[in-house]
Amino acid sequence: MAVVMPIYGTRPEAIKMAPIVQALGKERDISCFVTVTGQHREMLDQVNSLFGIDPDVDLNILRPGQSLSGILSRTVDGLDELFGRIQPDVVLVQGDTTSAAAGALTAFYHKIPVVHVEAGLRSGNLLSPFPEEANRKLISQIAQLHLAPTHSSKRNLLEEGISDVDIAVTGNTVIDALLQAVEMDLPVADPRIEEAVQSGQTIVLATTHRRENQGGSMEAIGRALARIAEADNDSIVILPAHRNPVVREAVLPWLANVPNVLVCEPLSYHEFARVMRASRIVVTDSGGVQEEAPSLGKPVLVMRQNTERPEAVTAGTVKLIGTDEDRIVHEALKLLQVPSEYEAMANAVNPYGDGRAAERSISAILHLLGRGRRLPDFAPIIG
Ligand code: UD1
Ligand code: UDP
Repeated sequence: MAVVMPIYGTRPEAIKMAPIVQALGKERDISCFVTVTGQHREMLDQVNSLFGIDPDVDLNILRPGQSLSGILSRTVDGLDELFGRIQPDVVLVQGDTTSAAAGALTAFYHKIPVVHVEAGLRSGNLLSPFPEEANRKLISQIAQLHLAPTHSSKRNLLEEGISDVDIAVTGNTVIDALLQAVEMDLPVADPRIEEAVQSGQTIVLATTHRRENQGGSMEAIGRALARIAEADNDSIVILPAHRNPVVREAVLPWLANVPNVLVCEPLSYHEFARVMRASRIVVTDSGGVQEEAPSLGKPVLVMRQNTERPEAVTAGTVKLIGTDEDRIVHEALKLLQVPSEYEAMANAVNPYGDGRAAERSISAILHLLGRGRRLPDFAPIIG
């Protein structure tokens, strides 16, 4: 019986790993041993419980205001002991967090093959997103199997010398997860938000957390959201606030006295999907949201200087607008107030997946273990 160990620690990793964990659970002759680092706590537990995943081990490494080196060292320490005890045949890591980098590195030290889920994303700037661009490049050097979500992420890997036979194009598992969440179709527990969803009010959904935006840029984001709400007072700006106190201190003071801004705790994933579906526009610096909102036909304004997810920008549903306060306000109001500008961006596109990414991923993992054939690569329907 081969032991496959998914390792993850944060909300987005949990969302994107969930469809793979579910599919591994259905495989005979595979024992799926789920290890969470606990880099996130509430935001991680929310996702695991939604998808019915009960981790086998929790390293519980979170500290308030944790440093990158602290996350790395506590994870490496915890995994060192665990690998000795469990001896997995394969380790799976997802994306570009410090939990993922630490999981890959420690597995490499133990000579355990690493599979990288969501491989090959590149912004081309080592400092942005920080530290994610470096984390994902590091994992690419170590992984034996690279599960690239798109053909452009595969091209990035080929350009860095990764061999074609070690790459499978699977689509992004976030679309598998999103389809499940949308199907749940359950109300949002917070009655203020559910009322906004049901009333058909214009919703501007916002999220922010990126480390490179922390400080002045994040304060500008807070001021911009307040100005958008004040200028378009028929709409409601909903901000599920990230648990990071640094984020909250920068953004929330600007929003406190604006009646049509609704700040809430992080939403459970099915709730967030419901609000996204009901939104008019999405304003964010998130990676995952850039992939999800386009598939729901929502225009996305990305408050970053660059992106490792160019596909929806090319398709016209995502626009990179940076973090200048005036620019954020201008771009959002243009979409809210000029119908032609809105229509030009509001196209449902699915460059990131078709809901079968987990299935393709499992076939590639089984192939790595010497079992069966890989499914054909994901082919997005363009246009
Ligand atoms: C991390 C990832 C980032 C990912 C993001 C998703 C790294 C370096 N960063 O950034 O790539 O985009 O997660 O959200 O891996 N906190 C809680 N409870 C939680 C989660 C966070 O209290 O459930 C607080 C803690 O004080 C923690 C702080 O938030 O110290 C920051 O969390 P951390 O994981 O270090 O950074 P993120 O910005 O969340
Ligand atoms: N998300 C969620 N609840 C929220 C905000 C976001 O479930 O209140 C989901 C969102 O749908 C996406 C993921 O969290 O799948 C993105 O996480 P985040 O922005 O924290 O990280 P990133 O994707 O930027 O790494």
